[in-house]
Amino acid sequence: MINLPENTLRVHPEDFINPTDLRQTFDHPERPFEIDLGCGKGRFLLARTGKFPDVNFLGIDRLLARIRKIDKKAQRLGRKNVRLFRVDAYYATTFLIPPESVDTYYIFYPDPWPKEKHHHNRLFNEPFMDAVARTLKPGGKIHTASDHLPYFEEIYALLKKDDRFEETDTFVPAEDEVTDFELIFAHKVPGRASFVKKET
Ligand SMILES: C[S@@+](CC[C@H](N)C(=O)[O-])C[C@H]1O[C@@H](n2cnc3c(N)ncnc32)[C@H](O)[C@@H]1O
Repeated sequence: MINLPENTLRVHPEDFINPTDLRQTFDHPERPFEIDLGCGKGRFLLARTGKFPDVNFLGIDRLLARIRKIDKKAQRLGRKNVRLFRVDAYYATTFLIPPESVDTYYIFYPDPWPKEKHHHNRLFNEPFMDAVARTLKPGGKIHTASDHLPYFEEIYALLKKDDRFEETDTFVPAEDEVTDFELIFAHKVPGRASFVKKET
């Protein structure tokens, strides 16, 4: 049996086909709920959890080694407001996260899958937009960035044409929030965009 990191959610197998109210795993479930989707090595997540102790953060990544490392750092830093989930982002947003439960999605540097024959692996597409729209609260936000400009343009076009969202002030990370990936490619200017789900 895998020895799961302390902050990793332990969801029963039968819950994997039903929405699971992940907010209930926090000490204060009523607080704002923000998700770093594809959280990578966690630099952004750990910076934000420190600055905003009254916000509940969920880090999602499909790589267990990354989740484990973030968990160790979060424990060392004594962070109580973070949970980590090793799961596919599309699966989580489509099936597990309850409707209108998320205040903010951060989706930074999603894998661009640059070869055309691999584009079908990209996270952003119309079904994913449906999943984001389903799970965001009205007024909830999505912040995204990518250094792969053709993919960024595709993401921006998807958001821009979607009537459920409108563009809002672009989220620019503070220096200590710059993601691990962005630090490595700091010489490249990324595309950034932020959208808000309309209140309707
Ligand atoms: C290019 S890295 C960016 C990580 C981080 N956001 C950053 O900016 O440093 C993409 C991350 O997304 C994760 N990832 C890619 N596809 C995923 C998926 N379908 N579900 C969950 N995580 C995914 C990868 O494991 C990787 O950690």
